[in-house]
This record gives sequence, C-alpha cells and structure tokens, in this order.
Amino acid sequence: MKNILLVSAEGLPYSKSGGLADVIGSLPVALTKQGMGAAVVLPMYKKTIEQHPELTELCTFHVTSGVINKQAVVYGAKIGEVQYFFIRQDDYFYRDGMYGYADDGERFAFFCKAVLDMLPHIRFKPDIIHCNDWQTGMIPILCKQEYTGEEYKRYKHVYTIHNLLFQGNFPKETLQCFNISDHYYNNGDIRFDNGISFMKAGIIYADKVTTVSQTYAKEILTPEYGERMEGILAQKGDNLVGIVNGIDVENWNPTKDPALYKNYTATDIRNKKACKRSLQYQLGLRVADDVMLIGIVTRLTWQKGMHLILDKLTNIMNQDVQLVILGSGDNYIESELKKIEATYPHRAVFYCGYNEELSHRIYAGCDLFLMPSLFEPCGISQLISMRYGTIPLVRETGGLKDTVKPFNEYDGSGTGFSFRYFKGDEMMFILAYAINVYYYNKPGWRKLIKQAMSVDVSWDNSAREYKALYETL
Ligand code: ADP
Ligand code: GLC
Repeated sequence: MKNILLVSAEGLPYSKSGGLADVIGSLPVALTKQGMGAAVVLPMYKKTIEQHPELTELCTFHVTSGVINKQAVVYGAKIGEVQYFFIRQDDYFYRDGMYGYADDGERFAFFCKAVLDMLPHIRFKPDIIHCNDWQTGMIPILCKQEYTGEEYKRYKHVYTIHNLLFQGNFPKETLQCFNISDHYYNNGDIRFDNGISFMKAGIIYADKVTTVSQTYAKEILTPEYGERMEGILAQKGDNLVGIVNGIDVENWNPTKDPALYKNYTATDIRNKKACKRSLQYQLGLRVADDVMLIGIVTRLTWQKGMHLILDKLTNIMNQDVQLVILGSGDNYIESELKKIEATYPHRAVFYCGYNEELSHRIYAGCDLFLMPSLFEPCGISQLISMRYGTIPLVRETGGLKDTVKPFNEYDGSGTGFSFRYFKGDEMMFILAYAINVYYYNKPGWRKLIKQAMSVDVSWDNSAREYKALYETL
C-alpha cells in the first residue's frame, strides 16, 4: 500500500477559494477507497483557527531556511481514513485572505520547508509527496537538492497544475528564503525572466506532472495556453498527463442536500421546480416555473469569460430569461454587475460575495449554468451543475470540453451545450439555441436533465488513474 501526502494551500473542509479546495477535500477520500493511505497538509489560516477549534497540537519546531528563522506548530485532525496536518505560523498565515500578499514568496517558501521539516515528527510516512499548484512547487527541488537525509531521497514527487496562470514568480531575492545554491538559478532550473518561479521548479523537479483534464494537458503545450511554460512542459514528454477531476458526490447530492428547499432525484425531478421557485423567491426574482433561470457561480475573473458576459449582458437579458450571478473578485466586474438589478428588476440578481449555501441552491434551482471560460483547466462548477440537472453551457476548452457533451437534437444525446471560439456572438448563438430547446423541445430538455444527472462525476475513475500513476513511481 502506498502512502500519499497531498500538499496544498487550500482544501475543504478547512479552507477554500476555488476548485483546488474541492479537489483536496475529495480526492484523498477516493484514494483511501482505492486502498491507499492518504494525508493532507495545509497552512493554518486565521479562518481555520477560528472555525476549527477541534484541531489538536502535535509538535513544534524551528524552520531555519536562508533568511527565515521562525517557529512552526503542527496541528492535526482525522476525518474518516484521511489525516490532516496544519502548519501554523501566525506571522504568515493569520490573515484575512489566503494569497495576494507582498510576502507570498516568503510565506510559501516557509510552508514548503515546514512541510518537509514536519515529516520526521509525524507517524504518517509518505511514499509519494503530491504537490499542488505554485505554493508547493519548491518541495521537489528542496528534497532533491537541499535535504540530505535518506528519507528525503526516497520520496517520489507528483506535481499537479490546477492553473498555469498562477506561477508563483518572485524576484531573485526570494531565493534567500532557501538554502538552495545560485547554481539552480544560473542553470535556469528555477529561473524565470530575472526572478524565480515556484511553478517552474515544480514542473522540472517532479517525477510526474499532472494537470486536471486531458485537453488542458494538451493545450498547455501551446503558446496560446502555455503561459510561457510550454517549452519546459514539452520537455516532460510522457511524464505530463491529464487526469480529470471528480467531485465529492456525497456533499453534492440533490437527493439529500440539506441546503435545498426540497430534494430530488434523476428519476423524479418535480422538486427541482420547487427549488427554483424558492430560489426565485429568496432572490426577489419573479416566481415562475416557465421562465428559463440562468445561473453563474464563479470567481469574477477574465478566465471565467466574464468579458463575454458583460459584453453581451443586454443581449442575454433581451431573451426571455432570468439571471442570477454569485461571485466575487475583480473590482471592475463587480461594479458592472452591481448595476444589473436596477436595470432588470425582478429578472436579474447579483450576489456579490462567497456563499456556500446559496451556491448549492443556485446549482439546484437554475435551468442552465453558464460557464463560457477563456480557459479552464478542469472546472468543478459544470460537474456540480450536471449532478443537479442544471444544464451547463460552456466553451469548448480544457476540462469543459472533456466533461460536457453537446446536445444532439437528432438522437437526443448530450449533457449540455457548448461553443468553440471565444466570441460573444458564438456564445449568444448557442444560448439562443439552448433557450429554444428549453421552450420548444420540452422532451429534449427533460432528457438532457436526466442524462446530465446520470453522468459519473465521482472520483472513482480518476482515483484509479492516480493510483496507476503513483504505481509507476
Ligand atoms: P476555479 O477553481 O477556477 O475557481 P472551479 O469550477 O474548479 O473554478 O471551482 C470553483 C469552486 O468554487 C466551485 O466549487 C464553486 O461552486 C465554488 N465557488 C466559486 N465562487 C463561489 C462563490 N462566490 N460562492 C460559493 N462558491 C463559489
Ligand atoms: C483551478 C482551475 C479549475 C480547476 C480547479 C481544480 O482553480 O481554474 O479549472 O477545476 O483548479 O483543479
């Protein structure tokens, strides 16, 4: 049995800003079901401390790394078969947000070092250290070039790219947070422009690099999606693979989700209508069964195609639809969206913020889920919306392309709608088509709901793929 230590900057049920947290919250459980041992290590943020008094202190040590000399306190918890470890250092992590601070390089340099320093102190003995995104990217090189102990040489490293846009690129001085020699800067291994890149280090030094869908694994080899890493990614050859994400089908389950007004199943979706009415009522929309309700739940960034939505807002609202958007992020997008309620009273609502419960109610209560991303490594939202019978309309990119099968009106197959080119008119064309199916092909729409709800969005298949990958190491 192999033991896998997943290292991440966020993970449910302890911290979340996006889909990475969903993955870290659900993949380890799926790995244990495949007979592997799984543990997770996360930073201990202010919110984690405030919301999880049950965590117990395990050990304390000093992290001395280049210019860093600070104490790390390790906390622990166990949920089912999965062990959780938390690195506590309040100067770095006792803050309102998780990232976006001027000292992020130093904060996550500390985190990487503390994770490795923790290993001799805990009973969990990993065979594989599975790092995620830039915040953990320095771990493989630290093991290979800085840590001299026997066990550090024994670990194998998997590095998963959840979003190549965020690379952890810092000025060269950040190298002073490690005891890594300038040699690895001079030979280009961790150098990016005139600074260092945690993401690049992760890609180069991991034994296997994965990303979260097969299409994104191919896309990132091109200049269009490669974010200037396409060259080094290409060098990984067969050691770069795409494994699509699943979701926690226990938590995201319309048959027993406590956040919903009423529960429903794929075979009896009458209560989905009740969820819709209750959502409309809650949001101040006109309560009506027979109007298409479109939902969006997202970080408000350009990645998510928000420019298409803003550009085409008038055209969207000129159709016979209602719209609900839940999200937060970019100031400009927020301020534009704040106008929609006044412009379209009782027809459009923007809830600015992060709200877990409302997200469940939107996934259940809407008819269509709009996700026209510019790029999408995998996407969790379209998987959730399919599980709730809310038909996704997506752009054919990354994981959206791999997980949503476009409706075919001739044989009735499909689980959603999709368009190819990132253009507002293309999106509108497909949206108009979807609206047409919704109003004038009711049996077709019902079939779509049934088919979307029957898609296996669990981790079962992908956990098997990870297992097979781990076994090659
Ligand atoms: P990304 O990780 O790029 O943001 P994903 O689709 O992979 O996109 O995952 C987004 C996750 O975050 C989903 O679980 C989605 O429901 C959740 N989410 C995003 N924005 C919000 C919000 N404002 N309130 C509640 N949940 C949100
Ligand atoms: C990133 C990506 C998203 C993916 C998530 C989890 O946030 O933007 O597409 O689903 O990571 O892998």
